[in-house]
Amino acid sequence: MRKKIVAGNWKMNNDLAATQDLLAELKKQVFPEDVAVMVAPAFTNLYPAYQTLREHPVEVISQNMHQSDKGAFTGEISASMLKSVGVNTVIIGHSERRSDFHETDALLAEKVDTALEKEMTVIFCVGEQLSDREHSEHFEVIKTQLDRGLFHTSKESWEQIVIAYEPVWAIGTGETATPKQAQEMHAFIRETISQQYGDGIANNISILYGGSVKPNNAADIFSKKDVDGGLIGGASLKADDFMAIVNAFGK
Ligand code: PGA
Repeated sequence: MRKKIVAGNWKMNNDLAATQDLLAELKKQVFPEDVAVMVAPAFTNLYPAYQTLREHPVEVISQNMHQSDKGAFTGEISASMLKSVGVNTVIIGHSERRSDFHETDALLAEKVDTALEKEMTVIFCVGEQLSDREHSEHFEVIKTQLDRGLFHTSKESWEQIVIAYEPVWAIGTGETATPKQAQEMHAFIRETISQQYGDGIANNISILYGGSVKPNNAADIFSKKDVDGGLIGGASLKADDFMAIVNAFGK
């Protein structure tokens, strides 16, 4: 089902005390019923966050996971481990994982398979570099990322998939794609999915925009017909800003 989603990616920010403070702020808020709200704290804070939000509509999700289920992978965390602490959704393919941790399309495809097999929801990130856009190669780059990371999966799996379009040049830079640029790419992504899997799946998939979404630009971006919400970095670390973005639909 195509849902409105706003997910906060806290990245490597907030120790346990700061996590609990931010969650306490969020718990005071009233959330719109038609928006699925998610937060992705650091691994060490997932279980405390899950316990704090257990009776609450905000879902705790993971920023990453390993592709194997267990074994000699020092420093890694598996899907089963995440599930055992109440986490059922994982972000895969964030551009920081792709560039800083050298995660390739092939590796991401493996992570997707493992997450789907473990019945997790995947938020799969795609996004072009500035140079790709300058060379008018952005559509091709996104198509390739979808093709290599997701298009090997079965039709049935698409119930568990959400896409996040995050142009790399807009992440953490304060520079946002214009609502028109976001809509154009989201429509392209939907069309590409439709060609691969048919209209039914393409129309049902939620496609989030990420990259410097702030309270002052969220409403314009979310008003576009193929934008179903946002993956929010910096602005998700302040409860007021995050709430303003959650409440930006229909404004
Ligand atoms: P930003 O990050 O909102 O700080 O640009 C978005 C993201 O990396 O998911």
